[in-house]
Amino acid sequence: MAWGNRAVNARDRPCGLALTLLLLLLVSPGEALENGLARTPPMGWLHWERFLCSTDCAGEPQACISEQLFMQMADLMVLEGWKDVGYQYICIDDCWMAFTRDEQDRLQPDPDRFPSGIRKLADYVHSKGLKLGIYGDVGNKTCAGFPGSYGYYDLDAQTFAEWGVDLLKFDGCNVNTVDQLADGYKNMSLAMNKTGRSIVYSCEWPLYMRPFHKPNYIEIKQYCNYWRNFADIYDAWNSVKNVLDWTAVHQDSIADVAGPGGWNDPDMLVIGNFGLSWDQQVTQMALWAMMAAPLLMSNDLRQITPQAKALLQNKAVIAINQDPIGKQGYRITKDNNFELWERPLSDGAYAIAVLNRQEIGGPQSFAFSTTFIVNGLACNPACSIRQILPTSEDWGLHNWISFLKLHVNPTGTVLLKVVVIKEKLFNNKQESPAL
Ligand SMILES: *[C@@H]1O[C@H](CO)[C@@H](O)[C@H](O)[C@H]1NC(C)=O
Ligand SMILES: *[C@@H]1O[C@H](CO)[C@@H](O)[C@H](O)[C@H]1NC(C)=O
Ligand SMILES: *[C@@H]1O[C@H](CO)[C@@H](O)[C@H](O)[C@H]1NC(C)=O
Repeated sequence: MAWGNRAVNARDRPCGLALTLLLLLLVSPGEALENGLARTPPMGWLHWERFLCSTDCAGEPQACISEQLFMQMADLMVLEGWKDVGYQYICIDDCWMAFTRDEQDRLQPDPDRFPSGIRKLADYVHSKGLKLGIYGDVGNKTCAGFPGSYGYYDLDAQTFAEWGVDLLKFDGCNVNTVDQLADGYKNMSLAMNKTGRSIVYSCEWPLYMRPFHKPNYIEIKQYCNYWRNFADIYDAWNSVKNVLDWTAVHQDSIADVAGPGGWNDPDMLVIGNFGLSWDQQVTQMALWAMMAAPLLMSNDLRQITPQAKALLQNKAVIAINQDPIGKQGYRITKDNNFELWERPLSDGAYAIAVLNRQEIGGPQSFAFSTTFIVNGLACNPACSIRQILPTSEDWGLHNWISFLKLHVNPTGTVLLKVVVIKEKLFNNKQESPAL
């Protein structure tokens, strides 16, 4: 029926084709969209979780979706050091539009809330050395009921390109059939390519596809730079937990697909808001780094605690998230309320996260052997370990028989970076020690 289905069913076809496909899979986890963008997970700010569809600028001048909100966030992004650590995209979500298209059928912003227009807003954001993201929908209406792009993909792509937009979040509401969903996401990708402007393409294709059939991630990655798999995040521990559980359960089919140019998107960072305890904020930051997730904060940069700001600006965690080889981490064990995740990094290093899922009592101790990490390879013959979160601490040198013991607060995470030390002996005598 739909595109996704065809490729999945290829497994049932004669051996030759299946073998060819298998070989293709072994060679590469799938070609990424060739727009040269998102070589590491995009970082920025997105209005949705914190500001939703607030359109009442008379009643809530500080919180309504208006050009002023995005200009203020852009100013702070530069002034408060966000840009310096890598946050770059200022992204508009739903509810920026007027309820109707203009006389030439083009999308237009709400004239009261965006009186200068999107082109001017993009110029402003660019003048700060930042990039602008915008929002549309593959169907007949956006999720909040504003005009959708169905039937207008070329025109809307051209409009966004003319405005100088750098990223498009394309939602999947109000689509009649699953064929139209897949075709619509592809057609918009091709339409944006035709404009000649480089625009990061954020899709929700697998999220809306999954109720009908299994998404074909190899194909999705050819059209999208990142894609949502799971429901919208809320400012709540329960929501963060659900995202982590979903990701761990589905990791065999999604983790290997991620890489430069294409990423799984577990949705926004809600750090700096109201719903997560300190330990839960640490967990979100650590695990989003492990998952190679886009780091799109949804918070109010005008009112954020120094503690949340320091966590979001932690360069060592960001470096794990932005690691150039772009391999997504995975959960390796779940043992009595403890979860152990690992993520391969460049230069043979690893990130390790230990999450305490117990929601009663105090800090719990967790002990594990370094042989647990990467099947014992990471610390053989030796490794150095640094704790990155919740605080930065040097744990010194270890070897393959070291035992590590740590204490983790309820719902908190300890994040470690393990750097392999190759013995001089090996370097001199043998080019590559047998692994
Ligand atoms: C359009 O796609 C081609 C490959 O199909 C790629 O080489 C080119 O860079 C793309 N252009 C843009 C603007 O993304
Ligand atoms: C949009 O509405 C038209 C007319 O009702 C319908 O034919 C079309 O399938 C709809 N598009 C999508 C993507 O659902
Ligand atoms: C996508 O483009 C193809 C080729 O132009 C067209 O046949 C198809 O109807 C389009 N689908 C949607 C959902 O726009």
